[in-house]
Amino acid sequence: MNIKELTLLSLFAVYAKAKSNTSDILYTGFDCWSYHVQDSVIGYKCCPNAEVVTVDDNGTWGSVGGEWCGITQNPDKVFHEPEVDPNEIICFTQYLEDQDTYPCCSPDNKVVKYIDQHGLWGFENGDWCGIVDGKPTWNDREYYDDTREEWNEFKEKWDKEYKFNFERLSVNPGEDESKLNFAWYSRSDENPVVRLSQNEDMSDYKEFTGSNSYIKKYLGDKYYSNMVTVEGLKPKSTYYYQRLLNDEWENPIKYTTRDPDNFKFIFVGDPQIGGSHSHVAHGMKRVLGYDEGIRNDAFNWNRTISKAFDLTKEPSLVLSAGDQADTEQDLLRREMEYSALFLPDQLKTVPMAAAVGNHDAWSFSHKLHFNVPHPHLEPDDDSFIPGYSHFFKFNNVLVVVLETNYITENDSEIVINKAVETYPETEWRIALFHHDMYGNGEAHSQNEDTTRLRPYLTRLFTNNNFDLVINGHDHIYTASKFVTYDPSKIDESSEIFTGYNVTVVEKEKVYEDPKGTLYITANCSSGSKLYRGVKKELDYLHYSNQTYTATFGVLGFEKSKGKLRLNITSYEVENFNIFDGPYIIEKEDKNYVPPTTTTTTTTTTTTTTTTTTTTTTTTTTTPIPITTTTTTIPITTTTTTTTSSTPTETPSECWSLEKGYPCCPKGTPVYETDQDGEWGIYEGGWCGIIPECPFEQFGYPCCKETKVVIYEDDMGKWGVENDNWCGIVEKNLPTTTTTTTTTTTTTRKTTTTTTTTTTTTKTPEPTICSDLWGQCGGVGFNGPTCCNGDNYCKTYSDYYSQCVPIGQ
Ligand SMILES: *[C@@H]1O[C@H](CO)[C@@H](O)[C@H](O)[C@H]1NC(C)=O
Ligand SMILES: *[C@@H]1O[C@H](CO)[C@@H](O)[C@H](O)[C@H]1NC(C)=O
Ligand SMILES: *[C@@H]1O[C@H](CO)[C@@H](O)[C@H](O)[C@H]1NC(C)=O
Ligand SMILES: *[C@@H]1O[C@H](CO)[C@@H](O)[C@H](O)[C@H]1NC(C)=O
Ligand SMILES: *[C@@H]1O[C@H](CO)[C@@H](O)[C@H](O)[C@H]1NC(C)=O
Ligand SMILES: *[C@@H]1O[C@H](CO)[C@@H](O)[C@H](O)[C@H]1NC(C)=O
Ligand SMILES: *[C@@H]1O[C@H](CO)[C@@H](O)[C@H](O)[C@H]1NC(C)=O
Ligand SMILES: *[C@@H]1O[C@H](CO)[C@@H](O)[C@H](O)[C@H]1NC(C)=O
Ligand SMILES: [Fe+2]
Repeated sequence: MNIKELTLLSLFAVYAKAKSNTSDILYTGFDCWSYHVQDSVIGYKCCPNAEVVTVDDNGTWGSVGGEWCGITQNPDKVFHEPEVDPNEIICFTQYLEDQDTYPCCSPDNKVVKYIDQHGLWGFENGDWCGIVDGKPTWNDREYYDDTREEWNEFKEKWDKEYKFNFERLSVNPGEDESKLNFAWYSRSDENPVVRLSQNEDMSDYKEFTGSNSYIKKYLGDKYYSNMVTVEGLKPKSTYYYQRLLNDEWENPIKYTTRDPDNFKFIFVGDPQIGGSHSHVAHGMKRVLGYDEGIRNDAFNWNRTISKAFDLTKEPSLVLSAGDQADTEQDLLRREMEYSALFLPDQLKTVPMAAAVGNHDAWSFSHKLHFNVPHPHLEPDDDSFIPGYSHFFKFNNVLVVVLETNYITENDSEIVINKAVETYPETEWRIALFHHDMYGNGEAHSQNEDTTRLRPYLTRLFTNNNFDLVINGHDHIYTASKFVTYDPSKIDESSEIFTGYNVTVVEKEKVYEDPKGTLYITANCSSGSKLYRGVKKELDYLHYSNQTYTATFGVLGFEKSKGKLRLNITSYEVENFNIFDGPYIIEKEDKNYVPPTTTTTTTTTTTTTTTTTTTTTTTTTTTPIPITTTTTTIPITTTTTTTTSSTPTETPSECWSLEKGYPCCPKGTPVYETDQDGEWGIYEGGWCGIIPECPFEQFGYPCCKETKVVIYEDDMGKWGVENDNWCGIVEKNLPTTTTTTTTTTTTTRKTTTTTTTTTTTTKTPEPTICSDLWGQCGGVGFNGPTCCNGDNYCKTYSDYYSQCVPIGQ
């Protein structure tokens, strides 16, 4: 495009001035092909009626107002949906990139044997198959009947109006609850202003100004970043604020501050807007494109926020544990994702604090969309996002938000110490960051880039009395036990960090000022990407579950009768089912002054001058009963309407029990084989497959202990246990299932004639390769090392390789 840029200079005088009628410009989304032509410039507007100035590979170009704009696209570059036969039986496995080896199940087979983020898998004729007409397991909005109308309207609005609005307002916490920070993009370089008033008509307003700086040109417009802080907010008050955008005052927005003794935060994990791209959209017979993915997640995110606000009524803060946006290199789509992030109206009424996720760390846009209080401006490693660790106080809560992509031990120490020294009196301490340090996700939690944080952050959180840590990254919900730093347990010879103690946590129980920190890993709040848990017993893990639905959590802070209470509860978006919690932590309120309940002030005698009528007012200051809070809390569990179909029985004894995993029901297909044996999936978690005993059909058991071969024949090797013959099963029968056809059964094995036919089935591997932007290698990483689609595995360091599009 440099050539065009040069041409533009010479042609500028001739054309630009002549054709500067801006009504030639078409703004609408999908219609405008030149939006997505990018290089040093991020997209161009369309001007279908302008005169052709130049032609290149991408199409014909005009010039309006001194800017290039697209007229018609090169017909060779126009994308056409592939034609499909409507009568063809389809299922998602046919459209999985790189995974065309799996057939569809027969249409009447609906028995689910395995679930992953693509769909429901069956098992048939010794092979995995995709269940026909199965609903996708990622959150594909096309599949919801109850929101169909709203969704169809939204799609149109998104394409035509919403997605290119990059000027949405981001409301963030200020240094404390009396302040509010604002960030927004504008197309004007005017100094930004926000007005604050206690009146709806904005009378008696106060004006707050901030800073403005040039960012970049998107779609032919120059964009500027604006940051403003508003101060002087008092509790339990109503305010109205208004911003000046491109020289016009917007409508006032109501902002209400809540009771400082009784308030709530909402927390969410990885909204990851845009993450749905490349998933198989079952109804469409193809994978979802990037723009469709953003649109789908934009709707789901708005729904998560709306539902969370409906339930919490009046939250005071939203905490997001990173990966707000998904796209990394395509800056235009990244801005569309932020446009979706700030779309929910509710987010203008409550500040949102957001951690930097690994997806956010690659571009400057996260920093420009959040105006953070107390930033750590000189981190040890200032690659990408300097200053993104920050902290603030909200009433009696200290929140420390850490940038964990590059943070070092020294950085962590500086930020946490400064936070605690600045707000030493805070009674609750919460950390928010992306990497799920004590999580269970298969994709990330056991990788070096996550586990490297354990030694120093565990120490800092214990020593500074942090109550709770909120993480994301793995898109699977987990709750840890209380984890306490214990240097005496550090085992230098161990590869993993061992310097901590754990104590049990139970739902619905009140913990009086427990030592240790609870780690909650929030799930994906839009439903765009879903991962599984690791197949390993983790001593710190309390609860983990992948329910394949969008979720959010609520932190309730209460102060009453000398007690402070924190209540952590997690909900499913679509039905408000509580799927975990409440976990309840209680502390003494150090500032509590008990009300005087003594009788000293019970009677007041009003002697009115000389009158003989002495009115004995029996105004008793109602003695507040200091009832010790009961520790049993009635739990309103919303009844789940999920009817689990076939209750399969799990055997009560097998090898995997001692590793902490249940036994698979008979007939469970093998998902993976390792040195311990064969693993299957049961109720969303790992289970151990009991090796079939091929000797049973001849009336003999398999040997339990002995490996001593006493005798060998066509059927196999024989040992003796308890004076009986038993068959010796070789462990690690690789990945073959043995189908044995018996022609004769005999009374004594010595005279048996059998023919054994062994059929080898393909190793089932529904998710063998990583999706785009997924990790595909690095020290300590046990996941797939190949990439789906047109992506390749790029090595960034010894610790991290990632799937990126070819050409990056
Ligand atoms: C711009 O074009 C529109 C329609 O093409 C016309 O109505 C309008 O007068 C033009 N404006 C100028 C300033 O030329
Ligand atoms: C066409 O667009 C692509 C990006 O979509 C860009 O890399 C390329 O340079 C464009 N071609 C020309 C001739 O401008
Ligand atoms: C967000 O969702 C709520 C609740 O479903 C809806 O009322 C609102 O219109 C949605 N917002 C947008 C911008 O679509
Ligand atoms: C961390 O801080 C200590 C003490 O200030 C210093 O000696 C050390 O070099 C720092 N480490 C790094 C990696 O910067
Ligand atoms: C860790 O647990 C052990 C055994 O229960 C106990 O003796 C020790 O004091 C604990 N350490 C800490 C730091 O709580
Ligand atoms: C996981 O969550 C689902 C849906 O809420 C529930 O039916 C299932 O029992 C849970 N599994 C475990 C192990 O808690
Ligand atoms: C995790 O999030 C995904 C996507 O929103 C959802 O499908 C899944 O049910 C959630 N699981 C839990 C336990 O929150
Ligand atoms: C915990 O909070 C939820 C709402 O977030 C509420 O329904 C529940 O009653 C609370 N439980 C306790 C014990 O405070
Ligand atoms: Fe993520």
